[in-house]
Amino acid sequence: MKLLEDRIRSDGEVLPGNVLKINSFLNHQVDPELMKKVGEEFSHLFKDSGITKVLTCEASGIAPGVMTAYELHVPLVFARKKKPATLNDAVYWADVYSYTKKVTNQICVEQKFLHKDDCLLIIDDFLANGEAVKGMINIANQAGAQIAGVGIVVAKTFQGGSKWIKDHGYHLEALAEIASLANNQVHFVGEK
Ligand code: G4P
Ligand code: NA
Ligand code: NA
Repeated sequence: MKLLEDRIRSDGEVLPGNVLKINSFLNHQVDPELMKKVGEEFSHLFKDSGITKVLTCEASGIAPGVMTAYELHVPLVFARKKKPATLNDAVYWADVYSYTKKVTNQICVEQKFLHKDDCLLIIDDFLANGEAVKGMINIANQAGAQIAGVGIVVAKTFQGGSKWIKDHGYHLEALAEIASLANNQVHFVGEK
């Protein structure tokens, strides 16, 4: 997605540890015009997949997730990282290992929001090692729901997540694919 790549080039900042900071339009401040276009793009890419719900993870998946769900005319469900006091016991849990923090956290979704007749589109802001996506797939499987595919705003293809998702037979679409962040430079897949 050209618009997104241009925005990453103009506003993105490469931090040590192969991290791309895009806090001005996605991970802290959010650009709703750009998120609307992200939603339109995912909706177009997955329009014939019979999606009944979009599944993402708080916090940064919610902006692209809700715009995608809006375009597809389906609800968005976001997995929570802490069990809220208002949540009852009927919850699906999954472990999510963080390579950056070397800790395992849990995500959860209340069982009543996912069913075996659901066909899910998993959306997330970043794809690195794929641990968050694996956790959402785990939760979808516990619910017996189908997975139509995985839509990622920014995929760092030099880390393991993209390969894992494709190797496991899932339809993966990434709107910006980063091949390298070496020398503080953003290199997109396929660019010269
Ligand atoms: P993984 O799920 O792909 O394995 O990612 P990893 O454990 O490496 O990353 C943990 C968190 O860091 C996730 O956010 C993920 O989206 C984010 N992240 C990974 N690589 C980058 C990057 O290059 N830039 C930015 N900005 N974020 C990255 P999270 O902890 O779930 O946070 P949030 O959703 O509340 O923002
Ligand atoms: Na995320
Ligand atoms: Na994030």
